[in-house]
Amino acid sequence: MLLSAPARNVTTNHKNNRNNTTTMNKPTHHLFVCGSFRASGDRQGVCHKKESMNLLSYLQGEIQDRMLDGVEVSVTGCMNACTQGPVLIDYPSGHWYGKVNEEAIDAILDAIEEGGVAEDFLISAD
Ligand code: FES
Repeated sequence: MLLSAPARNVTTNHKNNRNNTTTMNKPTHHLFVCGSFRASGDRQGVCHKKESMNLLSYLQGEIQDRMLDGVEVSVTGCMNACTQGPVLIDYPSGHWYGKVNEEAIDAILDAIEEGGVAEDFLISAD
Protein backbone atom coordinates (compact mmCIF):
# COMPACT_ATOMS: atom_id res chain seq x y z
CA MET A 1 0.00 0.00 0.00
CA LEU A 2 1.31 3.41 -0.89
CA LEU A 3 -0.31 6.54 0.37
CA SER A 4 0.84 9.72 -1.23
CA ALA A 5 0.71 13.32 -0.16
CA PRO A 6 -1.02 15.58 -2.65
CA ALA A 7 1.23 16.38 -5.58
CA ARG A 8 2.23 20.02 -5.56
CA ASN A 9 3.77 20.33 -8.97
CA VAL A 10 0.90 19.15 -11.09
CA THR A 11 0.47 21.06 -14.32
CA THR A 12 -1.84 20.57 -17.22
CA ASN A 13 -0.63 21.36 -20.69
CA HIS A 14 -3.58 20.92 -23.00
CA LYS A 15 -1.65 22.00 -26.15
CA ASN A 16 0.77 19.09 -25.91
CA ASN A 17 -1.55 16.66 -24.27
CA ARG A 18 -3.65 14.89 -26.87
CA ASN A 19 -5.35 12.63 -24.35
CA ASN A 20 -6.31 15.56 -22.13
CA THR A 21 -4.67 13.86 -19.17
CA THR A 22 -2.83 15.60 -16.39
CA THR A 23 0.96 15.58 -16.33
CA MET A 24 3.20 16.34 -13.42
CA ASN A 25 6.83 17.11 -12.81
CA LYS A 26 8.78 14.27 -11.25
CA PRO A 27 10.00 15.04 -7.75
CA THR A 28 13.72 15.64 -7.46
CA HIS A 29 13.58 13.88 -4.09
CA HIS A 30 10.71 11.56 -3.24
CA LEU A 31 10.87 10.67 0.43
CA PHE A 32 9.15 7.42 1.33
CA VAL A 33 8.38 7.05 5.02
CA CYS A 34 7.53 3.59 6.29
CA GLY A 35 4.06 3.48 7.78
CA SER A 36 4.27 -0.25 8.51
CA PHE A 37 1.17 -1.00 6.46
CA ARG A 38 0.52 -4.64 5.72
CA ALA A 39 -1.46 -6.04 2.79
CA SER A 40 -4.59 -6.05 4.91
CA GLY A 41 -4.23 -2.32 5.42
CA ASP A 42 -3.39 -2.72 9.09
CA ARG A 43 -0.39 -0.85 10.45
CA GLN A 44 1.86 -3.33 12.20
CA GLY A 45 5.57 -3.16 12.64
CA VAL A 46 8.46 -1.37 14.17
CA CYS A 47 8.17 1.89 12.26
CA HIS A 48 4.54 2.34 13.28
CA LYS A 49 5.35 1.43 16.89
CA LYS A 50 8.17 3.99 16.84
CA GLU A 51 5.71 6.69 15.78
CA SER A 52 6.81 7.04 12.16
CA MET A 53 3.47 8.63 11.29
CA ASN A 54 4.05 11.33 13.87
CA LEU A 55 7.18 12.35 11.94
CA LEU A 56 5.18 13.24 8.85
CA SER A 57 3.94 16.61 10.02
CA TYR A 58 7.44 17.58 11.12
CA LEU A 59 8.91 16.42 7.80
CA GLN A 60 6.32 18.22 5.71
CA GLY A 61 6.59 21.35 7.84
CA GLU A 62 10.36 21.42 7.42
CA ILE A 63 10.05 20.96 3.65
CA GLN A 64 7.68 23.92 3.53
CA ASP A 65 9.77 26.07 5.89
CA ARG A 66 12.87 25.41 3.81
CA MET A 67 10.89 26.00 0.59
CA LEU A 68 12.30 22.82 -0.96
CA ASP A 69 10.77 22.59 -4.41
CA GLY A 70 10.47 19.14 -5.91
CA VAL A 71 10.60 17.27 -2.59
CA GLU A 72 7.58 15.01 -2.11
CA VAL A 73 6.59 12.72 0.74
CA SER A 74 4.72 9.43 0.58
CA VAL A 75 3.89 6.78 3.15
CA THR A 76 4.57 3.13 2.41
CA GLY A 77 4.05 -0.32 3.71
CA CYS A 78 6.78 -2.24 5.48
CA MET A 79 10.08 -1.99 3.59
CA ASN A 80 11.58 -5.07 5.29
CA ALA A 81 14.16 -3.12 7.22
CA CYS A 82 12.16 -3.18 10.44
CA THR A 83 15.09 -3.46 12.82
CA GLN A 84 16.29 -0.10 11.51
CA GLY A 85 12.92 1.63 11.89
CA PRO A 86 11.61 4.15 11.46
CA VAL A 87 12.84 3.91 7.87
CA LEU A 88 12.89 6.66 5.23
CA ILE A 89 14.04 6.19 1.63
CA ASP A 90 15.09 9.04 -0.66
CA TYR A 91 14.53 8.40 -4.36
CA PRO A 92 15.93 8.59 -6.94
CA SER A 93 19.18 8.70 -4.95
CA GLY A 94 18.26 5.38 -3.32
CA HIS A 95 19.59 6.37 0.08
CA TRP A 96 17.95 4.41 2.88
CA TYR A 97 17.89 6.03 6.31
CA GLY A 98 17.12 4.35 9.61
CA LYS A 99 16.28 5.24 13.19
CA VAL A 100 14.69 8.34 11.74
CA ASN A 101 13.62 11.00 14.20
CA GLU A 102 13.40 14.80 14.00
CA GLU A 103 17.19 15.12 14.23
CA ALA A 104 17.55 12.70 11.32
CA ILE A 105 14.98 14.59 9.28
CA ASP A 106 16.96 17.80 9.81
CA ALA A 107 20.14 16.04 8.69
CA ILE A 108 18.44 14.44 5.66
CA LEU A 109 16.95 17.75 4.53
CA ASP A 110 20.28 19.49 5.12
CA ALA A 111 21.89 16.86 2.90
CA ILE A 112 19.27 17.37 0.20
CA GLU A 113 19.90 21.11 0.26
CA GLU A 114 23.65 20.57 0.06
CA GLY A 115 23.55 17.74 -2.46
CA GLY A 116 25.01 15.29 0.03
CA VAL A 117 24.08 12.35 2.20
CA ALA A 118 23.09 12.25 5.88
CA GLU A 119 25.80 9.72 6.71
CA ASP A 120 24.92 9.38 10.40
CA PHE A 121 21.53 7.85 9.55
CA LEU A 122 22.41 5.98 6.36
CA ILE A 123 21.62 2.24 6.45
CA SER A 124 22.18 1.44 2.78
CA ALA A 125 25.52 0.89 1.17
CA ASP A 126 26.32 2.98 -1.88
S1 FES B 1 7.75 -1.73 9.58
FE1 FES B 1 9.02 -0.23 8.66
S2 FES B 1 10.51 -1.36 7.61
FE2 FES B 1 9.18 -2.87 8.41
